[in-house]
Amino acid sequence: MSSIQTIQVHTAPAYEVSIGGGLLHTCGQRLREVLAPCRVAVITDSTVAPLYLKTVTGSLEGAGFTVCSYIFPAGEGSKNFTTLSAILEFLAKQRLTRTDCVAALGGGVTGDMAGFAAACYLRGIRCVQLPTTLLSAVDSSVGGKTAIDLKAGKNLAGAFLQPAAVLCDTDCLRSLPPEVFADGAAEAIKTGVLDDESLFALFEDGTLTAAPEEVIARCVGYKAGVVERDEKEQGERRLLNLGHTVGHAIEKCSGYAIPHGHAVAAGLAVIARSAEALGWTEEPVAARIAACLAKNGLPTGTDFSAEALAEAALADKKRTGGDITLVIPKKIGVCELKKVPVAELLPIIRAGLEG
Ligand SMILES: NC(=O)c1ccc[n+]([C@@H]2O[C@H](COP(=O)([O-])OP(=O)(O)OC[C@H]3O[C@@H](n4cnc5c(N)ncnc54)[C@H](O)[C@@H]3O)[C@@H](O)[C@H]2O)c1
Ligand SMILES: [Zn+2]
Repeated sequence: MSSIQTIQVHTAPAYEVSIGGGLLHTCGQRLREVLAPCRVAVITDSTVAPLYLKTVTGSLEGAGFTVCSYIFPAGEGSKNFTTLSAILEFLAKQRLTRTDCVAALGGGVTGDMAGFAAACYLRGIRCVQLPTTLLSAVDSSVGGKTAIDLKAGKNLAGAFLQPAAVLCDTDCLRSLPPEVFADGAAEAIKTGVLDDESLFALFEDGTLTAAPEEVIARCVGYKAGVVERDEKEQGERRLLNLGHTVGHAIEKCSGYAIPHGHAVAAGLAVIARSAEALGWTEEPVAARIAACLAKNGLPTGTDFSAEALAEAALADKKRTGGDITLVIPKKIGVCELKKVPVAELLPIIRAGLEG
């Protein structure tokens, strides 16, 4: 049996992230440490349900919880008002009360949408996150951002709701298709570029699958610190959007056919090339970032035009007034926020698509 690592996130209220093998089998007992016996609505998708739902409901019931479950069709295309509305109606039909709980079992789509449902239902009930993708393990299950997509863009309706607990069962990663594993690698490589050259270096030979626990713990540890200092994204937390201005634009331009992690990888490669071309970096970063992404099965560019991307990006929520805040890599492990006039975004993206 592998050992379980824990990381405390000191938000108000605080919570614990547990990382290790076998956690879904013991999730009932573990959640009893933070929840009195109550009704738990497990929200999951059509791919994850046949793999892990029974394990979770069995463990929860064994620990004295009353369990119901809702399954939606897997994929980003479900992260919308229609599915959210169906989940909320389900919670009401199951008569969940303020003292009950939602459990998000799945990847980032499930976590974001079930978290948002928990944040809206009865003006907010508790939520626990049970991430099953590398992306949700290293990033989306921690930090309390929940959302759905609108036609106007990615994650445009949402709420902040810190989970009551996060149980990250690393055994789940074994059933991930390689391209879904790669989506998580993109966010972890992003974390390396933001804060930790040695984490970035773990990805440079493309053999990460061997030790995901260490990567997850380092990414969660970094994100927890940022979120503790800036829970509502007034300042420092914006750094976590590295690669996301162009990434979200790529997702939107593709009609959400390109997954988030792949889009973020391309967005990271583009902004690294722009930053270097415009003389904003302290050392060359673009070739090293692109090589690392490619080693991990991720794209390093996009076929969408700079015009299409700039237009899509400017409909996005990160635009405030006449400026847009970009995250610029200075070197591997150090990034900074840079406010630029919206009119400059197009030439900046253009610089990143060339070369
Ligand atoms: N809230 C945040 O802070 C935050 C951060 C980063 C990303 N996100 C969001 O996360 C979403 C992307 O998350 P994702 O990449 O996990 O996508 P996802 O939830 O769609 O999962 C990807 C695919 O993998 C399947 N899957 C999940 N677990 C599996 C397993 N163990 N074995 C086999 N298949 C499995 C899913 O059914 C799905 O088809 C995006 O919507 C993005 O906006 C949110
Ligand atoms: Zn992301």
